[in-house]
Amino acid sequence: MITLSEPPRLVRPTTDVRTSYLTGEQADCLLLGTDTDWLGPASTDFDAFVAARDHDKERWKVMSTVYWYVSAEHYLGTLVVRHALTPELTVDGGHIGYHVVAPWRRQGHATRMLELGLEKARERGISRALLTCDPSNDASRRVIEKNGGVPDEQLGTDLRFWIG
Ligand SMILES: CC(C)(COP(=O)(O)OP(=O)(O)OC[C@H]1O[C@@H](n2cnc3c(N)ncnc32)[C@H](O)[C@@H]1OP(=O)(O)O)[C@@H](O)C(=O)NCCC(=O)NCCS
Repeated sequence: MITLSEPPRLVRPTTDVRTSYLTGEQADCLLLGTDTDWLGPASTDFDAFVAARDHDKERWKVMSTVYWYVSAEHYLGTLVVRHALTPELTVDGGHIGYHVVAPWRRQGHATRMLELGLEKARERGISRALLTCDPSNDASRRVIEKNGGVPDEQLGTDLRFWIG
């Protein structure tokens, strides 16, 4: 495994990790069989791609903040803090969403990334965060449980947990 020269940090999207971001996300798309079309424009003008993400913006009908989990030149994953809940997010989505790109999975990064993401959420006044995950997603469930997630009533198909 690659030895990271410094502990990963949650930062606003940055052009510093261009190659690592693009190859990591492309590997994930190919693994999952999801759309890769967005990577063309992202690679052609990465500055514009980052500029569209490095500030708070309305997504899922609420303001949200995107963070990247990085160590020096390495991009490991993304975490999004949603500043509020809608009825839809209360059932599926919650306050925080995240993924770790394939090369960096199963090394404890998501667990630590969520811990740092919860700090970011608390700084925004979210003292009690809702996390949701698909019942088949054992990895995400473990990440949430390891961060103190307490199960709540299941309103839809996703499992729901509160932290804080
Ligand atoms: C879910 C995800 C973020 C986990 O990332 P990760 O960095 O591999 O997670 P960690 O290394 O912190 O592992 C956390 C726990 O999950 C377990 N785990 C990780 N991958 C697993 C897998 N594929 N199957 C079963 N358990 C798994 C780990 O063993 C660990 O549990 P343990 O401490 O009891 O051993 C990553 O798999 C991912 O990005 N998946 C796709 C996107 C996604 O599902 N996002 C969450 C939406 S709610």
